[in-house]
Amino acid sequence: MTERIVLAYSGGLDTSVAIGWIGEATGAEVIAVAVDVGQGGESLETIRQRALGCGAVEAYVADARDEFANEYAMPTLKANALYQGHYPLVSAISRPVIVKHLVKAAREFGATTVAHGCTGKGNDQVRFEVGIQTLGPDLKCIAPVRDLALTRDKAIAFAEEKGLPIETTKKNPYSIDQNVWGRAVETGYLEDIWNAPTKDIYDYTATPEFPPAPDEVTITFEAGVPVAIDGVKHTPLQIIQEMNRRAGAQGVGRIDVVEDRLVGIKSREIYEAPGAMALITAHKHLEDVTIEREQARFKATVGQRWSELVYDGQWFSALKRSLDAFIEDTQKYVSGDIRMVLHGGQAIVNGRRSETSLYDFDLATYDTGDTFDQSMARGFIELWGMSSKVASGRDLRVQGK
Ligand code: ARG
Repeated sequence: MTERIVLAYSGGLDTSVAIGWIGEATGAEVIAVAVDVGQGGESLETIRQRALGCGAVEAYVADARDEFANEYAMPTLKANALYQGHYPLVSAISRPVIVKHLVKAAREFGATTVAHGCTGKGNDQVRFEVGIQTLGPDLKCIAPVRDLALTRDKAIAFAEEKGLPIETTKKNPYSIDQNVWGRAVETGYLEDIWNAPTKDIYDYTATPEFPPAPDEVTITFEAGVPVAIDGVKHTPLQIIQEMNRRAGAQGVGRIDVVEDRLVGIKSREIYEAPGAMALITAHKHLEDVTIEREQARFKATVGQRWSELVYDGQWFSALKRSLDAFIEDTQKYVSGDIRMVLHGGQAIVNGRRSETSLYDFDLATYDTGDTFDQSMARGFIELWGMSSKVASGRDLRVQGK
């Protein structure tokens, strides 16, 4: 029987050429796998037809938008995950859901190998292959760009020579990856890190310099998950989409960073994640009201470690699973409403209410009705500073003077 390979297929030039390229290099039959994670653009049916037109023996297409929103974006929100304090893990969280479908397709069609279109310089190759190793340990991995010398020039020449049903003239100088959680743009002119991004780079966000009138929005959360906008119930997918639209119109969520890749390279990245950044801001502010202080401090550390694991391709790892359990436990009381104003690139919270709040007006108030006994503070401070006081006394004694 001819060997079969499932290919993570985007419908673009490189993966369209990869179908025939892999076939010629390995003699295997190629099955194209296209997964909708909310990247927009062409319909899955159009992509299926192109895959078949480019020589795939089968095409597997999946609308994974709700799955992605519920099982990948929501945990990212609960973790307030921002890699290096900036990046909401847009591409990093899409790889594991694509991996799930690749493994499923490999089983369905009897494939022995999984192929993807990543280069050998990025994080995504690691995320795909570590994921495959974990979910389908018997499957092999191959990356035509990295392993079969499929360069851009050769791809264009191959597509023209074979008359593949794909445009080869449209020249986009950037490498773009996008889904409903956000959009990543890199390479080209951006590789000079002193160059400011030009307007044409952005797609999810309008320029924040000339914003429309301020947009006030109320987001309702239940156990860490957004469930309604302005009192209207929605699914997580719908909420992300709606916040992309509203926060995007105000230019919220533009990010320009130099980031540490797993493979040891620093790289310039432009991200746009209007919905994700607005939701993370709202979620964090609700946590400030509902999570106990020590738990909250520790959760920030856990969230950072979680972000690093996910960035580093360890979505399916044991540690990530353990951290998920901790994070999930902290979300029990993260319920209530956050009101925020979206305007001119900013999402600023100006109101919060929660049935499970830890904010105690009577303890906090400086007005009458204060229940806080201020006389307790003197003794507390005395003890709190005691060990430092003893240590500095010793320093003075030993150093003389
Ligand atoms: N640097 C980001 C990451 O590693 C984004 C990668 C996006 N991929 C792309 N082809 N533009 O998650």
